[in-house]
Amino acid sequence: MSEPLLQVERLSKRFPVAGKRGAKLFAVDDVNFTLAAGESLGLVGESGCGKSTLVRLLARLLDVSDGRIVFDGQDLAAVPAAGFARAPQRAAIQMVFQDPTDSLNPRFTARETIAEPLALLSPLRGAAAMARVDEVAAQVGLPATLLSRYPHQLSGGQKARVGIARALALRPRLLILDEPTAALDVSVQAVVLQLLDQLRRELGLTLLFVSHDLNVVRLLTDRVAVMYLGRIAEIGSSEQVFRAPAHPYTQALVSAIPGQGPRVKLSGEVSSPIDPPKAACRFHGRCPQGQDLCGRQAPPEHVMRDSRVACHFAA
Ligand SMILES: Nc1ncnc2c1ncn2[C@@H]1O[C@H](COP(=O)(O)OP(=O)(O)O)[C@@H](O)[C@H]1O
Ligand code: SF4
Ligand SMILES: [Mg+2]
Repeated sequence: MSEPLLQVERLSKRFPVAGKRGAKLFAVDDVNFTLAAGESLGLVGESGCGKSTLVRLLARLLDVSDGRIVFDGQDLAAVPAAGFARAPQRAAIQMVFQDPTDSLNPRFTARETIAEPLALLSPLRGAAAMARVDEVAAQVGLPATLLSRYPHQLSGGQKARVGIARALALRPRLLILDEPTAALDVSVQAVVLQLLDQLRRELGLTLLFVSHDLNVVRLLTDRVAVMYLGRIAEIGSSEQVFRAPAHPYTQALVSAIPGQGPRVKLSGEVSSPIDPPKAACRFHGRCPQGQDLCGRQAPPEHVMRDSRVACHFAA
């Protein structure tokens, strides 16, 4: 098999905790996965499980605490976030953010927004840059007449298209989308998801798609990684994970999708991400299948036919 485009190894991010000297919040803890060129990977899990932190590490917006981010054969984790703006890989990894209103400069027209990364990171200038803006605007279904508008003159869906066009302008090799439809009306969400699916097929994009909505991920991804408290609980082909989830947490998530049979109810609270016990499963205390062992020993990862599952009893 050829080298994956992205190889994430033992990646961790710990934040200091305000008012608690020496304490650390384990936002991302020992995460491993690979992504092949042209593949689409979904990242799911409830709010606070570390999805945004993980993708912000990959986009090099945050410094890494531990681990490697091997992109196209080079370890990006070694490049400080502050220096990444000038790194050669900067143009190759682009991100679409959650809220198109927050992430667009209110003083830039749509055209200026889409052109900005070209001016910073490509050799295109003048008419050649404008031609690229027109091309990418057409790809995302943004009529040329809207390109002279400011964000406040655009609808939510149009702003989302501007954000996607800006990210695509440099022809990135990896496109990261962090809940790109979460801030949109439901009817608009469906249209934007269809657009992303179409772009993925037409442009052969490599996608990392973050969502707390499993249904959305199912539409757009070849594989899915389920996160719980900073760790990957289960990762595998979307087909396998949705049809036969093996981790008790994934089983609960999948059972919440309407039409998936009886709902698995979770008891208890999500435990704290601050200095979590090393010798325990992160899901212990909330897991319907938990046993004594789960409180004493972190589960190993079981490699199954088409997936990898961190649970003592998955095999
Ligand atoms: N800059 C930060 N400083 C301290 N804690 C943070 C910071 N960013 C995120 N966190 C914490 O890291 C954990 C993961 O957050 P996040 O990655 O935003 O999760 P998600 O995107 O899955 O909702 C949360 O407990 C959050 O409070
Ligand atoms: S290791 Fe135990 S607590 Fe963790 S998911 Fe498996 S059964 Fe549940
Ligand atoms: Mg988030």
